[in-house]
Amino acid sequence: MKQLLKTLTETYGPSGYEDAVRKLILKEVKPLADEVRVDALGSVIARRKPAKGAKNPKKIMIAAHMDEIGVIVSHVDKKGFVRFTNIGSPFGRYTLGARVHFLNGVTGVVGYDRLENIEAAVPLNKMYIDVGATSRENCPLKIGDVGAFERTYFEMGDRLVAKSMDDRSGVVSLIETLRGLKSTPNDVYFVFTTQEEVGTRGAGPAAYGINPDVGIAVDVTPTGDTPASLKMVMELGKGPCIKFRDVGMISDPRVVDWMIKTAEKAKIPYQREVLLVGTTDAHAIQLAGAGVMSGAVSIPVRYVHSASEMIDYNDLKNTVKLLTALLSKPVSF
Ligand code: CO
Ligand code: ZN
Repeated sequence: MKQLLKTLTETYGPSGYEDAVRKLILKEVKPLADEVRVDALGSVIARRKPAKGAKNPKKIMIAAHMDEIGVIVSHVDKKGFVRFTNIGSPFGRYTLGARVHFLNGVTGVVGYDRLENIEAAVPLNKMYIDVGATSRENCPLKIGDVGAFERTYFEMGDRLVAKSMDDRSGVVSLIETLRGLKSTPNDVYFVFTTQEEVGTRGAGPAAYGINPDVGIAVDVTPTGDTPASLKMVMELGKGPCIKFRDVGMISDPRVVDWMIKTAEKAKIPYQREVLLVGTTDAHAIQLAGAGVMSGAVSIPVRYVHSASEMIDYNDLKNTVKLLTALLSKPVSF
């Protein structure tokens, strides 16, 4: 599981440009699923059909996003310095000094305009990328070129650090759940969505196409366990989080109840999540078509949207256990 996480987090897939990540996912899920397709927005939909003789199987859509935050070139000046804008929300405080890998193979470093007030936070429009060019003509980047932040995966005991743990850790959870799921009484759609970071754009159309009875997003959730963090109970290493609320969704209480009862019965540690910032694909799934009963399981993460997002390996393993337990039994709402 760690090797797959390393491979996936060291691959680039900014929103709308998920091709390299999609290829890896397809290679993993094709031998495991009964049907695999890619929809118009590029989401991978891998179906595990209900076991023969299953009574009244429920359609469950379980989604993790394959895209990551990045940048897109907006201007190149006379001296070859590259101005850029955001794809999703890379935070300025993490962007200074970063290395950016462009999909055309070019790498650059982020610099910034001289500050009047040295204490001020630098907005992205006061930053530029230096790719070693000396003029617009010899700059290897053009308007519209897309990049993502470069950083290798590493381990500190059970703490795993990489870029795009948001949401490749969710992607790995889904793949490992699919791998371990011997049979299910449900009709399960494992969906690897695109364009989550730019506003949960891939998940809604995917849900519309599937028309599930229940929707679950598997994504990361920021913790409240670092100095002067937001007052939230979520911690690394205390288990997957069962979401009650985030900025974009109130989880369906029936789904929350199902998740909690399942975790307790299987003795899987879990945390109750009320997230004060951000949302997930479950927001888009809940509002798709005529509406879908939805909830979310979150992997706690520190330093979200930095190039060194940190998770705990035990949380990843327990997320797979919880998802497997949820999908293995008939769902009765
Ligand atoms: Co994110
Ligand atoms: Zn995410």
